[in-house]
Amino acid sequence: MKKIPARKILTRKNADKFALYLESVQNPPFEIEVINRFYRDRHKTGATLFKEDFCGTFMLCCEWVKRSSQNQAFGIDLDEPTLDYGRKHHFSQLSDDQKNRLVLRKANVLDVTGPAVDIVAALNFSYWLFKTREELLAYFKKARASLRPGGMLVLDAFGGSNSYLEVKERRRLKGFNYVWEHAHFNPVTSELQCKIHFEFRDGTMWKNAFTYDWRLWTLPEIRELLLEAGFKTFTVYWEGTDPKTGRGNAVYRPTKSGEACVSWVSYIVSFRD
Ligand SMILES: C[S@@+](CC[C@H](N)C(=O)[O-])C[C@H]1O[C@@H](n2cnc3c(N)ncnc32)[C@H](O)[C@@H]1O
Repeated sequence: MKKIPARKILTRKNADKFALYLESVQNPPFEIEVINRFYRDRHKTGATLFKEDFCGTFMLCCEWVKRSSQNQAFGIDLDEPTLDYGRKHHFSQLSDDQKNRLVLRKANVLDVTGPAVDIVAALNFSYWLFKTREELLAYFKKARASLRPGGMLVLDAFGGSNSYLEVKERRRLKGFNYVWEHAHFNPVTSELQCKIHFEFRDGTMWKNAFTYDWRLWTLPEIRELLLEAGFKTFTVYWEGTDPKTGRGNAVYRPTKSGEACVSWVSYIVSFRD
């Protein structure tokens, strides 16, 4: 009888932090589905040109080029080692045709204009690294300048009473725990330091696997800056609640009024014109 190979036990020594990050906080097929729906809500037809700002290991770009042979994707990130990880682990999995439709650039998003695309996505709160109105406005203007007529910027944001507290949230996943920590919040500046840690079943831990130094922006502040940058619409897609668990149900609907809850994550959609 064939022996079933033992599943590798994850430990601090053998863990791959980008793979754990992907498993913990990303779901590229779902995210691209949702983004496409936001675009179709307005245009009734799908987009083909997609730019992922702060792309990290550019999973959304990979998913985009897999979706359709018409699709092209552009990924921008400052960090070469992160891009290299994506090249080695994700780009390498694409077909030659898909590879030909994906372009990566190591650059500051503030320095990049073009190519003109249908959708710009800046997800996992990356744009919160801009801590002043001037910086965030400059970024939104850049994003708008790289959209074709009718183009859409999609962002995400979180909030709720927990976001103002120094708290840890632990989620048990296969072989490890994902720990999201609000390590420090300064009410005077709204600066928020967040950390991701991974805990393993053997008792070891990857402390500070990822750290973020952000400003906690509110939805009305973001709205004002998007409109000031020239965007013509601002829509918040709020997540519904599963009545059985009381938790988010991953169904996002446009709303003018959210729920005052402990924590929420929403998408923000703005069209260029
Ligand atoms: C929170 S991660 C997000 C990664 C990915 N977008 C995701 O959804 O998981 C932020 C990424 O932004 C990159 N980054 C930070 N500042 C940047 C800038 N000014 N221009 C381009 N990329 C930047 C970092 O290197 C990092 O990969």
